[in-house]
Amino acid sequence: MSLRFILPVLAASAAVFAQDEKCSNSATTTIENNADATGLSSCKTYTGSIAMATGVSGDVQISGLKEITGDLVVEENNGIGSLGASDLQKIGGEFRLTADTQLGSLSFPKLTDVDSLKWVSLASLGSIGFTSELTHAKSITISNTQLNTLEGINIETVDTLIIAQNPYLKEIAIKVTNVSTELTVQDNNAETSAQFGNLLSAKKLQLTAVSMVDLSSLVEVEGGLGFTNSLFENLACPNLTTVGSLSFTENKKLNNVSFPLLEKVGEDLAAGGNSELKELDFPELTDVEAAVDLAGNFTNVTLPKLNKVNGKFNLQSSENITDVCDYYDGLTGDGKPLRGGITCAGSQDDPQNLNGNPSNSDEGSGAIKLGMSAFLGLTGLAMFTLL
Ligand SMILES: *[C@@H]1O[C@H](CO)[C@@H](O)[C@H](O)[C@H]1NC(C)=O
Ligand SMILES: *[C@@H]1O[C@H](CO)[C@@H](O)[C@H](O)[C@H]1NC(C)=O
Ligand SMILES: *[C@@H]1O[C@H](CO)[C@@H](O)[C@H](O)[C@H]1NC(C)=O
Ligand SMILES: *[C@@H]1O[C@H](CO)[C@@H](O)[C@H](O)[C@H]1NC(C)=O
Ligand SMILES: *[C@@H]1O[C@H](CO)[C@@H](O)[C@H](O)[C@H]1NC(C)=O
Ligand SMILES: *[C@@H]1O[C@H](CO)[C@@H](O)[C@H](O)[C@H]1NC(C)=O
Repeated sequence: MSLRFILPVLAASAAVFAQDEKCSNSATTTIENNADATGLSSCKTYTGSIAMATGVSGDVQISGLKEITGDLVVEENNGIGSLGASDLQKIGGEFRLTADTQLGSLSFPKLTDVDSLKWVSLASLGSIGFTSELTHAKSITISNTQLNTLEGINIETVDTLIIAQNPYLKEIAIKVTNVSTELTVQDNNAETSAQFGNLLSAKKLQLTAVSMVDLSSLVEVEGGLGFTNSLFENLACPNLTTVGSLSFTENKKLNNVSFPLLEKVGEDLAAGGNSELKELDFPELTDVEAAVDLAGNFTNVTLPKLNKVNGKFNLQSSENITDVCDYYDGLTGDGKPLRGGITCAGSQDDPQNLNGNPSNSDEGSGAIKLGMSAFLGLTGLAMFTLL
């Protein structure tokens, strides 16, 4: 496989030995200049990790190399304008690009496999250059770039997929089917569509500030499914049957929610701050393990099969919902579905969720939290580099 295993057979000439040094390194090999990058071309497999020194600049090309078993890292670099690896097929570790201010384009025409991809704070990055398409990655985080397309990323299963704060990205269409940890789309362009039409299951799914959602195949979300600060009018999850928690928060134009097969909510079902949402109808919903917590301008909330709500049932509206409240009041008492008590009130000036008005709560601050963790991540890396 790698030159390393062939070497002992060859006489240990100094030149060959030097090549071996370049083909494996238990510490990270740092590329100091373009000649170092060119020097790697004699390797097919590089055993170890490769990082670019902060002073490397211009166009950096690594040719010949087919596999890096460790990481490929460019961090805090203000000089590299483009980065390519014409023959690279696999990165066994992380493909990490963070805080590289000039990096405008990438060219990885044969890359199909990475363990994880983390591209954060790339103020110039406008193109991906994955001609043969990345098909395998356990984790992908792309945030704070100038990318206007994710074309070239074509993965089916992933642990984590986070796409955040990419202001030119208007379409996110990834054919992912199962997400075992987290899928987050947050604060990209106001017109960003979130198209995950092949998605069957996710552990956690949060969509913030998107213009449209395609979750037409989604069957199951084990943890939280949240829709926040988005401007779509219609939201449909036609095949969703079970969800951990389900929340609709501050979607100012949302007026039509369709979850025709939803039977079970493992924690809370919550809605708040969706000004145009007048009616809610979950025709198959039987069980809510925690609270039902709805505040807004509702005229009607229809839960005809409701059999069990273990937590509190809170429904508050600016509209007159006397008849609706009469119905739910009738579901309280011994052996009745609403086991955790009820607050139902219409004609409220300021309808409240259980934790207060959502516009005053923490729900909308996810962006700040993500920004902070990205920032802390960078600080940590910078410190590591200094050491
Ligand atoms: C993907 O999710 C679906 C729906 O929950 C499930 O039936 C299927 O087994 C999952 N596939 C994988 C590979 O996890
Ligand atoms: C919804 O589920 C049904 C039954 O499993 C399936 O036939 C249909 O194709 C699914 N719809 C989508 C859009 O995946
Ligand atoms: C509401 O959404 C459902 C499902 O997507 C759709 O069939 C229906 O036409 C929509 N209703 C309105 C008034 O837009
Ligand atoms: C209800 O609608 C009014 C406008 O009619 C809006 O100002 C208010 O914020 C809405 N309330 C909620 C809780 O969405
Ligand atoms: C609310 O509606 C009920 C029945 O529809 C009616 O009796 C009641 O007077 C209304 N209350 C207000 C404040 O309009
Ligand atoms: C709420 O909607 C249901 C189903 O459409 C209907 O049967 C019920 O009469 C409505 N209630 C009110 C108060 O409008």
